[in-house]
Amino acid sequence: MSDKQFPEGFLFGGATAANQLEGAYNEGGRGLANVDVSPVGEDRIKIITGQLKHFDFDDEHFYPAKEAIDFYHRYKEDIALFAEMGFKTFRMSIGWSRIFPKGDELEPNEEGLAFYEDVFKECRKYDIEPLVTITHFDIPMHLVTEYGGWRNRKMLEFYERLCRTLFTRYKGLVNYWLTFNEINMILHAPFMGAGLYFEEGENETQVKYQAAHHELVASAIATKLAHEIDPENKVGCMLAAGQYYPNTAHPRDYWAAMQEDRENYFFIDVQARGYYPNYAKKKWEREGIELDITEEDLALLRDYTVDFVSFSYYSSRVASGDPEVTEKTAGNIFASLKNPYLDASEWGWQIDPLGLRITLNAIWDRYQKPMFIVENGLGAVDTPDENGYVEDDYRIDYLRQHIKTMRDAITEDGVELLGYTTWGPIDLVSAGTGEMKKRYGFIYVDRDNAGKGTLKRSKKKSFDWYKKVIATNGAEL
Ligand code: BG6
Repeated sequence: MSDKQFPEGFLFGGATAANQLEGAYNEGGRGLANVDVSPVGEDRIKIITGQLKHFDFDDEHFYPAKEAIDFYHRYKEDIALFAEMGFKTFRMSIGWSRIFPKGDELEPNEEGLAFYEDVFKECRKYDIEPLVTITHFDIPMHLVTEYGGWRNRKMLEFYERLCRTLFTRYKGLVNYWLTFNEINMILHAPFMGAGLYFEEGENETQVKYQAAHHELVASAIATKLAHEIDPENKVGCMLAAGQYYPNTAHPRDYWAAMQEDRENYFFIDVQARGYYPNYAKKKWEREGIELDITEEDLALLRDYTVDFVSFSYYSSRVASGDPEVTEKTAGNIFASLKNPYLDASEWGWQIDPLGLRITLNAIWDRYQKPMFIVENGLGAVDTPDENGYVEDDYRIDYLRQHIKTMRDAITEDGVELLGYTTWGPIDLVSAGTGEMKKRYGFIYVDRDNAGKGTLKRSKKKSFDWYKKVIATNGAEL
């Protein structure tokens, strides 16, 4: 038992995304989305990065999002389990194509709206605060094929309509909103992040930054609307975070790390401070990137900054200015140089609890806005016994160490943190690989990479551990 305390009202919980758990991809009037047509297996990475044009299902691949873990039909059971763990908050996302099946309709699909209303009410029944990502790697396929995804300015209008619909319908039910999941992923997984694919010979960097500009303006419009419709609403941005370390004390390595950090912080610099940083304008100038940015866009960015800064954290990263240093290790979509001081998960993601404290401090120092850790966790292979029970001490260890350094950041460093949601509190489909085998949950789901299994839920050892963490507000880890 520690006498270091998390603040009262700290929001412990878990985080998910529609396409990774709902399934029912063609029920309730839902339209097809980019995430549906991304299969498990080798081709996935080429598809989500926009290198392989793959816009529909075929017989050669398995598409895990079609059924996922069937939360669509089992949400009551799942939310009851979250409530049993004592969740204060549940992060989930809206499947855009449930609300606007094609994306460009004028009227929403009532069945989709009713589904999420029921889910939010179910959360409220247990005093669980919904934390809702408006788009989590999710865009109706029609907007990809007809408009080219976020490269197109028309997306502002469609997204605004989506936001207005959600804020109006869920007024009083939802107060915490995130505009775009891991907005910096647009640079690394542009089909998944923004429905982008590239034609041969096109300037990909230019397209990505144009799409980023559209998302940034859309995010500002969402913040404006959210506050207008309900002053209780709080809107956050969301970054795939993880501070870069220099590979050595050589100044050129420090410089390289700074450049890499800027590539990520660029998005949050705009969303939290309200203007494009000079380093970005200089980069565009140097690289001949010309963006369509209007005065009205700039005014929106300036006037409607976010209320809080949220982020995912799985690992720190390493950069070097020495072209000879190249040994990479896997990470959350984009690889980093290997850090010899750290262990790694079975998927090669390096494990760095202190890096979370470092990242929290870096973000706090930069923005001075309340923060929210909305993803953190260990993807691992679990071996259940005949009852579906898993002795996942490795997961408990990972989370315990991260929660400790997060507590230090609050109690020793004074950062302001609203809450912490672990990624995938119930096993779900991996975004990066499409696998089920890569599990993050406190709750085991009987389903494999090929879609076999009963979908039965069972508690792992970590279930009771996290329950105790929440019950003691983080005093007992
Ligand atoms: C984040 C995403 O990138 O990391 C989640 O927001 C994702 O959607 C999570 O699932 C973990 O990554 P993966 O590839 O292990 O599922």
